[in-house]
Amino acid sequence: MKNIKAIIFDAYGTLFDVNSAAEKCKDKIGSKWESFSNYWRTTQLEYTWLRSLMKRHKDFWKITEDSLDKSIKVFDINPDMKSELLDLYKILSPYPEVKETLKLLKEKNYKLSILSNGTPSLLKRLVSRNNIEVFDDIFSVEEVGIFKPDSNVYDIPVKKYEIEKNEVAFLSANTWDVSGGGNYGFNAIWVNRNNTIFDNLDYSPVNQINNLKHLLDIV
Ligand code: LAC
Repeated sequence: MKNIKAIIFDAYGTLFDVNSAAEKCKDKIGSKWESFSNYWRTTQLEYTWLRSLMKRHKDFWKITEDSLDKSIKVFDINPDMKSELLDLYKILSPYPEVKETLKLLKEKNYKLSILSNGTPSLLKRLVSRNNIEVFDDIFSVEEVGIFKPDSNVYDIPVKKYEIEKNEVAFLSANTWDVSGGGNYGFNAIWVNRNNTIFDNLDYSPVNQINNLKHLLDIV
């Protein structure tokens, strides 16, 4: 990839492990913890897309709670676990290679930023709590009041940095977000952590890596 001026990361699922909250409670939840966690994540995302289509925006934290309420019922989890799970969601763990990779990228003088559905305060807390304060900016969809993959979201860093769309390397582990950013015009790179199948949404990622460390080989 040539002429990349900014490297922009999705947050949830890309930098931070969305399953880490339920995983930390696996003794209490039991063997269904992983299916429960996947259901919670899927429902959370569905609510973002549905609310965007219905034009009834609610911030990501409220959506995380709404989707957790439903998931707790569906999986028959003790409702007393709700506050513990939400507290853990505020301090999700980063994937193991994230910190070192960001440090090395920072030395290469790219603009580094996050572009996420999360609220500004949630994202700030995740970054500081995990000691990865290397970002030039943390962009939140709250600036535009609609969720990814609406193009207004991907416009945020392009306008702020006054750069061309193809000067951005956009990284996400969420296939639909890679498709969203790629269709928008970014060079979208898929972080395919679990060796899964890509979408059929008119875009093929410019690159595919299985963890963020491999980004250092391509930028
Ligand atoms: C985000 C979600 C899509 O961080 O993972 O924007």
